[in-house]
Amino acid sequence: MMNQDDFFKKITSHAKEYGFIFQSSEIYDGLSAVYDYGQNGVELKNNIRRYWWQAMVQFNENIVGIDSAIFMHPTVWKASGHVDAFNDPLIDNKDSKKRYRADVLVEDFLAKIEDKIAKEVEKARKRFGESFDEQQFVTTNARVLEYRSQHETISKRLYSIMETNDLPAFKTLIEELGIVCPISGSRNWTDVRQFNLMFSTQMGSTADGASEIYLRPETAQGIFVNFLNVQKTGRMKIPFGIAQTGKAFRNEIVARQFIFRMREFEQMEMQFFVRPGEELQWYEHWKQERMKWHLSLGIPASKYRFHNHEKLAHYANAAADIEFEFPFGFKELEGIHSRTDFDLEAHQKYSGKKIQYFDPELNQSYVPYVVETSIGLDRMFLAMLSYAYTEERLDDGSERVVLKLPPVLAPVKAAVLPLVAKDGLPEKAREILHSLRYDFYCQYEEKDSIGKRYRRHDAIGTPYCITVDHQTLDDNTVTLRDRDSMLQDRVNINELRRYIAEKIKPLVG
Ligand code: GAP
Repeated sequence: MMNQDDFFKKITSHAKEYGFIFQSSEIYDGLSAVYDYGQNGVELKNNIRRYWWQAMVQFNENIVGIDSAIFMHPTVWKASGHVDAFNDPLIDNKDSKKRYRADVLVEDFLAKIEDKIAKEVEKARKRFGESFDEQQFVTTNARVLEYRSQHETISKRLYSIMETNDLPAFKTLIEELGIVCPISGSRNWTDVRQFNLMFSTQMGSTADGASEIYLRPETAQGIFVNFLNVQKTGRMKIPFGIAQTGKAFRNEIVARQFIFRMREFEQMEMQFFVRPGEELQWYEHWKQERMKWHLSLGIPASKYRFHNHEKLAHYANAAADIEFEFPFGFKELEGIHSRTDFDLEAHQKYSGKKIQYFDPELNQSYVPYVVETSIGLDRMFLAMLSYAYTEERLDDGSERVVLKLPPVLAPVKAAVLPLVAKDGLPEKAREILHSLRYDFYCQYEEKDSIGKRYRRHDAIGTPYCITVDHQTLDDNTVTLRDRDSMLQDRVNINELRRYIAEKIKPLVG
C-alpha cells in the first residue's frame, strides 16, 4: 500500500499537469481544501455525474430529479439537527496556534501503532523468508500482541468518549498518550471544544435586519422540504425517490487529503420514500443497487466493501458505507442510510405544515420513511483517478503513465490524429472529427510526433486514438489504437462510431 503523502503528491501533480484539478486561487497561494476542476477534470466530473443521473433517474420509473437552492430557510437546519449537532471536537495547540480534530489526533496515534505492527511483520518476513506464516506471527509475537492490545484499549476509549461526548476525557486521553503538535512539537493543548461545521453568512443588508443563513452542508434537506411539491405535482406514488446533485459546504478542519475531504464539494443524493415498516427491505435493496452501479464501471469487486455501522446516528435505524480501496487504504465513498421518518417529522414539527402521504392501497395517511443513498462526486472522482493512475514500463524500456479510466467516464473518448500535418491528412482527420463529435467528445491534435500525442492521450485516459495516414486517403481506413493494450487495428472510417459506442457501454444497464 502506498504511503498517503507519496500518493497525494503523485496524484496531485498528475492532476495539475494534465488539467484535471487546480488548487483554488493558486496565484494567491491557494485556499485550503478548495479546488478547481480544469479542462479535463470538468469532463470527467460531468461524466461521473451523468452516469449516476442516468442510473438513478433515467433507469428508474419511480425516481425523479430536482435542483434545489443552496441557500435555505435557517429553520431547516434547526429542524435537521445540524445547528445543534453537526459538530467536530477540536483542540488548539497554544504554541503553534494550529487547530486539530481531537479524534483525528488520536486516530493518527492509532495509525502509528498499526505502522509499527506492519514494520514488525515486514522484518519477520525478511528474516523467515519463504516459510513465513503471517497469521501465526501476528497472533503469537509478543511485541505485536502488545501493540495490538494498546490499539484496542485506545480505540475503545476513543469510541466511548465520542459516544458520550465527554470533552474533558478527550483532553485527558490526548495528554496521557503524549500526543504532540506536529508543528510546534509541544503538548501545550487547550481544552477540547465542539465546533459547528456549517458555514454561515448574512442575507439582506444589515439596515433591513439581516438574518444569518447557512450554506447547505448536505443536499438532502432540499429534497425533504420539496417532498410534497414533487409528490403532488409529479403524482408520485410511494415507494418513490427524488434525486439531486449539487454543492455542499463544510468547514472541515482536517484538510490535507486533496479532494478526499474538501470544504466545498459536490454530493449526489437520492431519498427514497417508503411505507413505514418497509424501510429495512428497501435499505437492503439500495445497498445492492448502489454496489451494482459501482461494479458496472468494470472495476474489480475486490476494490469495494461494505462497512456496516454499529454506532448509528440518532435518526437512523440502519446505515452502511460503501468503501473503496484507495491507495492509502479502504475509505468511505458512499453512504446508504435508513433515516426513518426523522427528517420529514422534524420539518412537519418546525414548519407547522402537515407533511404526509395518503396511501390509497392502505387507505391511510402517514409520514413516509426514507432510505438515502449519498455519494460524494469529488470523492468518486478521486477513486477513479487513483484506480486509473498506472505507471508502466514498456518492452522497449521506456515508461508511460496511463489513466485506465472506465471508458464511459474518460474525458475524451477518441483523439483524431493526422500522422503528419500535410498531404491532406489534417483535412481528412477533421472530417472524421466532425462526423463523430455529435455523439462523442473527441479531440483533434496535429502537434508533435505521433508517439508523443499517444502518450498525452494515455495520460488523460483517452480510450482510442484514431490515426489518419496516407493509406486513409486511398481506402478510407484508419488505425485505431487501444489505450490499455496499445494494439492497433486497421478499421474502416464508417465503423468508428460502432467501435467507440461498444467501448463506452456500461457493463450493466
Ligand atoms: N445526506 C447524508 C450525508 O451528507 P455524509 O456521510 O456526511 O452523509 C455523504 O456524506 C458523502 O459525501 C460521503 O460518503 C462522501 O463521499 C461525501 N463527503 C462528505 N464530506 C465530504 C467532504 N468534506 N469532501 C468531499 N466529500 C465529502
